[in-house]
Amino acid sequence: MAKYFLKCADCDHREPETEYRIVCPKCKGFLEVAFESVPAEPLDRSQPSIFKFHRVMPYEATPDVLDYEHFEPTPIVPAGPLSERLGIDLYFKDETLMPSGTWKDREGYVSAHRLLINHVKDLVIFSSGNTATSLARSISIIRGPRLHIVLPEASRDRIQTYAQFFDPEFVKVHYFAGSNDECIVAARKLAQEQGYTIEGGFSNYARREGLKLLGLEVATLWDRRPDWYVQPVAGGIGVYSFYKAYADLGRAAECPRILGVQAEICPPMVNAWRDNSSKLEQRHVPQTVIPSDFVRVLRTREPADSYPVVKKVTDKVNGAFEAVNDQEIYEALRAFYREPYYLDHYQRTGMLIGLEPATALAGVIKSVKVGTIEKGSSVLLNVSGAAKRGDIRAEWLADLLPLRH
Ligand SMILES: Cc1ncc(COP(=O)(O)O)c(C=O)c1O
Ligand SMILES: [Zn+2]
Repeated sequence: MAKYFLKCADCDHREPETEYRIVCPKCKGFLEVAFESVPAEPLDRSQPSIFKFHRVMPYEATPDVLDYEHFEPTPIVPAGPLSERLGIDLYFKDETLMPSGTWKDREGYVSAHRLLINHVKDLVIFSSGNTATSLARSISIIRGPRLHIVLPEASRDRIQTYAQFFDPEFVKVHYFAGSNDECIVAARKLAQEQGYTIEGGFSNYARREGLKLLGLEVATLWDRRPDWYVQPVAGGIGVYSFYKAYADLGRAAECPRILGVQAEICPPMVNAWRDNSSKLEQRHVPQTVIPSDFVRVLRTREPADSYPVVKKVTDKVNGAFEAVNDQEIYEALRAFYREPYYLDHYQRTGMLIGLEPATALAGVIKSVKVGTIEKGSSVLLNVSGAAKRGDIRAEWLADLLPLRH
């Protein structure tokens, strides 16, 4: 018998997983992974990588799959100068160490595995680059099924950063000149015309369960409980998944407060949350998104399916939302390079922090200033990813970066 089942959050429907569904077959509601019971010991320390968490994840740790993923829990590093300057205990969850540089690698195996068990042969996905790279990586390792990525022209350069993870036998990239929202429509059209499965974004449980691994690491492997967890937000999977980790461990009440941060050029969730609305209404949706050099990924205009769920989570944990402008993102990006850890990191690897964690850090700085985050709080920041090619201009950081040797 399956150790997990799928459960509708909007009606009483529950079922074992028998096909690739992204909505409840009864009411088209929100389908979630649920477990019969909370394991007495959630961690299986005998297993490698993500398979340590198989007792609270929708996959098994059978010997045939252990070679499909190798990354280990990412470190949590105390910030130095930033903690002092802000009067908080700030910690970095360093997701830039993931194989393709972003926390989206946590989704890869779970998504690919879900396709295999449901015999999906072709999947169409929209991505601005990070999710696509992670899923392409896992599919290239597992060698199937076929992945069709719809990518905005604007991300052509970004995707080249990890070209080695795109095995042309299994991964095809379709460039589309248009906004993210237009690309999502194009992806749906491609799937319909070709009879391919559409990935589903927030409604695909595999993505949400994959990112849950970050919360599981924090909840089970870290000996501290922060007051706040801070997350850069586009579709909002990160907010949902962090909370679900605690809920699935039977420790929902211990979940830290969650701060979601968006860019001011595209802050639909912030608008709706400030309005205390349970749904995303048209008045919360930015009608146009003016391109910004400081916002490459966090540009989801209309997260109508995820917002109601994210709002419920935010209320449960007494969380908050904040929006930050380009100047604040720029200053936060620079603030990372006053930290010895990230200076050293750059010197060793040449890797730069992405704009999404800079956005989240800007949200921390602003929230301390306006008092949402009280002085003396402990705050865990999801440093969710490294920059991809073309994201960061050298002149933004030139005076701060040491020469590499
Ligand atoms: C590096 C990075 N951080 C944060 C996010 C935002 O995640 P979500 O779409 O779950 O809100 C993304 C989304 O692609 C991302 O790639
Ligand atoms: Zn239902």
